[in-house]
Amino acid sequence: MSIPTSRTEEMATVTIDQIKCNGCGKCVTVCSDYGFKIINGKAVRSEEPLFGCLACGHCMAVCPENAIDVTGRCLTPDDLFPFTEPSVKPDYNSLLQLFQARRSMRKFKDQPVSREIIDLILAAAQTAPMGVPPSDVNVVVLQGKEKVRQFSSDFCSMLDKNRWLVSRWITALMTLFYDRKTVRFFKKFMRPLFDIYIGSMKKGIDLVTYDAPVAFYFYGSPYCDPADPIVAATYAMTAAESLGLGSCMLGAIHPFLQSGFGVKEFRSKYNIRFKSREGLVLIVGYPKVKYARGVRRSFANIDFI
Ligand SMILES: Cc1cc2nc3c(=O)[nH]c(=O)nc-3n(C[C@H](O)[C@H](O)[C@H](O)COP(=O)(O)O)c2cc1C
Repeated sequence: MSIPTSRTEEMATVTIDQIKCNGCGKCVTVCSDYGFKIINGKAVRSEEPLFGCLACGHCMAVCPENAIDVTGRCLTPDDLFPFTEPSVKPDYNSLLQLFQARRSMRKFKDQPVSREIIDLILAAAQTAPMGVPPSDVNVVVLQGKEKVRQFSSDFCSMLDKNRWLVSRWITALMTLFYDRKTVRFFKKFMRPLFDIYIGSMKKGIDLVTYDAPVAFYFYGSPYCDPADPIVAATYAMTAAESLGLGSCMLGAIHPFLQSGFGVKEFRSKYNIRFKSREGLVLIVGYPKVKYARGVRRSFANIDFI
């Protein structure tokens, strides 16, 4: 057994072709599991790996002689592919331009996003790093404006059943058990949020997913690093921007999909397999707004130590 994920608990199997191996030791260098050593000029498996092979694939990818096969934990040698020409590698300036021009988009043209484009976004997002391979990120794709709106409408109905959570008596009770900041957060953000989402949906205005033509919900499993779905969503957002689409991350949905009245039914309707510590919805569509200028952003702190 290796580190368990929702997809597999087993260790992967590593085979080294002793005839092909030239003893260069690159596999020893890249294996974070300390799974290789060189004996008599050839790579062999070490007897004391840290966890057992996680199938990150680094040893296969680095081997100049193609002498290593890793099979298991959702990886096979067939998952190796050649790199494209280095001339197409994006440089820092083009990436920075993409990042700087991006704005959270909440207004979309009434134009569908094709399945082909959705697949391109998913293909890019699947290259995202993850805490432990194989990725434990799950994605629900809501394809089409109607399905996205239905999701928001169901979400608001579910929120309505849990409105008591932000009622005055609950926040009064909270003051006994929680610090002031948490209570303030409930009063100043959570309560108005419930009111805004539910109230506007009742008037036919979708302020949850903004009538986007596509929404992706990235969520993890109970095993995965909580950051995994967030990293994948960030890759998806960048990919969407590179394809000329507008996008917006929506953090306010995931926390309400964990527990409460009607939540289990909601998860079941949308095939959401797990509760998870973190998750993020990403809406995507053709932007209705074109910004004339960028907006400078900054971190709260950058401390060079
Ligand atoms: C993690 C995360 C969660 C967010 N959640 C929401 C949300 O629930 N609803 C919303 O309208 N915007 C949401 N946003 C968008 C931000 O409000 C937006 O990034 C912010 O307004 C800054 O604008 P910019 O992205 O154009 O720089 C979220 C953004 C991030 C990164």
